[in-house]
Amino acid sequence: LRRLTPVRFDESRSTWDVFRYEDVHRILKDPAAFSSVRMLSDKERETILTMDPPRHSQMRALVNKAFTPKIISELEPHIRSITNDLLNAVLDKGAMDMVHDLAVPLPVIVIAELLGVPSKDRDLFKEWSDILVKGPEENTDEAFYQVMAEKGQATEQLNAYFAQIVEQRRLEPQEDLISLLLSAEIEGQKLTDKEILGFSILLLAAGNETTTNLITNAVRILTEKTDVQQQLRHNPELVASFIEEVLRFYPPIQAIGRVAAADIEIGGKSIKKGDQVVSWVASANRDETKFADPETFIIDRKPNAHLSFGFGIHFCLGAPLARLEGQIALRTIIERMGDIRLAADADLTPIQSPFVYGVKHYPV
Ligand code: HEM
Repeated sequence: LRRLTPVRFDESRSTWDVFRYEDVHRILKDPAAFSSVRMLSDKERETILTMDPPRHSQMRALVNKAFTPKIISELEPHIRSITNDLLNAVLDKGAMDMVHDLAVPLPVIVIAELLGVPSKDRDLFKEWSDILVKGPEENTDEAFYQVMAEKGQATEQLNAYFAQIVEQRRLEPQEDLISLLLSAEIEGQKLTDKEILGFSILLLAAGNETTTNLITNAVRILTEKTDVQQQLRHNPELVASFIEEVLRFYPPIQAIGRVAAADIEIGGKSIKKGDQVVSWVASANRDETKFADPETFIIDRKPNAHLSFGFGIHFCLGAPLARLEGQIALRTIIERMGDIRLAADADLTPIQSPFVYGVKHYPV
């Protein structure tokens, strides 16, 4: 596709697909030409992910204050202890489902604690956030509408739940993200309650399943490429570059959508104002003009300018947190588990989504 149809229009989806690194990079760094505002998005549910400047710049500056690399790096001992607790519950059995036992609960617990959800509500909270990222079980209209209805209900319940936490934190601020969001201010402007609720729910939707798949995809590399598993065992200090290479090789988000804000030419094709454009990160990350030997997993690849967290003004806000969780999870796995192999009877079912890359279970 990169060579033969680097920019193509897919009639069946009425969408442009873009496959080359150079073109994907150009689209992501030009929000004036390629807008993030979805045509169907309703204003009530608008979040930074679906805003353009100048509104995006203001909101992003505000939430950046509550989500700094320093705040995230301070979570390290805590993330380590949650990872160890989750592994303690399963390790002596000699077998586990990497998705269910570690990769799903770790990010949910971390985000819940970051936001300030009391531990007694953890299960309730996990139930709602699972529904938010759930896809239909079968490929039928009925299954689709069923999931949409469940998602609507879970969002309402989460909204009501967070509204009550926001109220409590306003009266009695704590050391958590919601209290920080309540106090953050730029040029006299504060976030409204609605914006805080929307942002909290965005963190769940954008941060949980993605990090789950990063951790599972990383373990998948260890089992598919036993030489890499050995390399990491002998050089655990390579865990950071290992995780970057997992992100490049098996990106949890395969593609990023935009809408053309004006008539524009890309790769010799004329894109019209209002057209949908999908930038295929998974392809850009394997572009031979950008990465030497792109089909080979190189544990210490440098440089590694993958686009798995996006690029430019919408670059993933949670990237430092996702990286930290991925590194701690894999380092702990390598330290505490012996030879890791995919279970012989494993049935690997992909997550039903064109954009999400991961499997439902990964028994090891
Ligand atoms: C944005 C991927 C983890 C919160 C993005 C974007 C990508 C991405 C590709 C850009 C979307 C665009 O340009 O339209 C990932 C991946 C993750 C991950 C692969 C895990 C491996 C997280 C986590 C959080 C998070 C843990 C929060 C706790 C966000 C937010 C945005 C975003 C709030 C919107 C930023 C903006 O529009 O300015 N993420 N993400 N993500 N991500 Fe992540």
